[in-house]
Amino acid sequence: MKYWLYFLVITSIILLVTLAGMFIVFKEQYTLLESSRDTLLQQNTELLEETIFQSNEITRLQDQIQELQERLGDEIDKFDELEDRVKDSLETVETFKKLSETDPQLLQKYSKVYFLNEHYSPKDLETIDHNHVLSPKQLKIKEQVAPFLDELLEEAQDDDIDLQILSAYRSFGIQATIKQNYVLTYGATAANTFSADQGYSEHQLGTTVDFTTKDVGGELSRFQTTEAYEWLLDNAYKYGFTLSYPENNAYYQFEPWHWRFVGKELAKDLHRNDQHFYDLDQRKLNTYLIGIFDD
Ligand code: DAL
Ligand code: ZN
Repeated sequence: MKYWLYFLVITSIILLVTLAGMFIVFKEQYTLLESSRDTLLQQNTELLEETIFQSNEITRLQDQIQELQERLGDEIDKFDELEDRVKDSLETVETFKKLSETDPQLLQKYSKVYFLNEHYSPKDLETIDHNHVLSPKQLKIKEQVAPFLDELLEEAQDDDIDLQILSAYRSFGIQATIKQNYVLTYGATAANTFSADQGYSEHQLGTTVDFTTKDVGGELSRFQTTEAYEWLLDNAYKYGFTLSYPENNAYYQFEPWHWRFVGKELAKDLHRNDQHFYDLDQRKLNTYLIGIFDD
């Protein structure tokens, strides 16, 4: 009985010591865990603060970027505006340059109304290909008009239209001689119905031609009935030519052979509106001068 008591006491002491030991170990572990938790919590708080700071920083930077983008947009708009103004100015300069280089006489009305003086002759005359000229004499045309006339003649040839040139540039002096001869032959009144006085002829500009055919030759009164005339009515405007003196015009007799180069734009407008050169006001005609040689 006594041994059992000893045994019980000793076992209890061992148990108590073990429990105390375990308590101490757990307590230490708990303290350690608490400390780790506090550290983690603190780190978490710091991270959170850092995140908030960084997030504010990002927002601030985004605002800055937006502001910069807006300023860049404004600058681009200003640049575009400036570019447009520079372009406009260059176009204006180009227009003035083109106008200063274009002979202002080219779209003037030279039919008993305006007068070209005896010194006027185009600066640039070139000889028309003799294959297209009826007589063996050399005929001349303004250099800048030549490509348009060549194209017209080539297209006519492709369409099997026999088209020849009877007369082209005529100087003041030549026109004077021609007119004098007509006056002598037909009398002044009759001659004035089909021949301009020197200085009043469109032929002096170097932009005007009298067409004929091999068959008609110099008998121009027959030109009206030819296929060539019909072809010119349908096609000449495409190459910038227009009929100066249609039937019942106010200046001369009907001259189906006499075609003046006025530029493609004006010739097309006249053709589309079924109008003639002398129907238009001089101010309206002048607006076409700048583009007279445009293709
Ligand atoms: N035959 C036209 C009118 C001229 O002489 O110019
Ligand atoms: Zn003529």
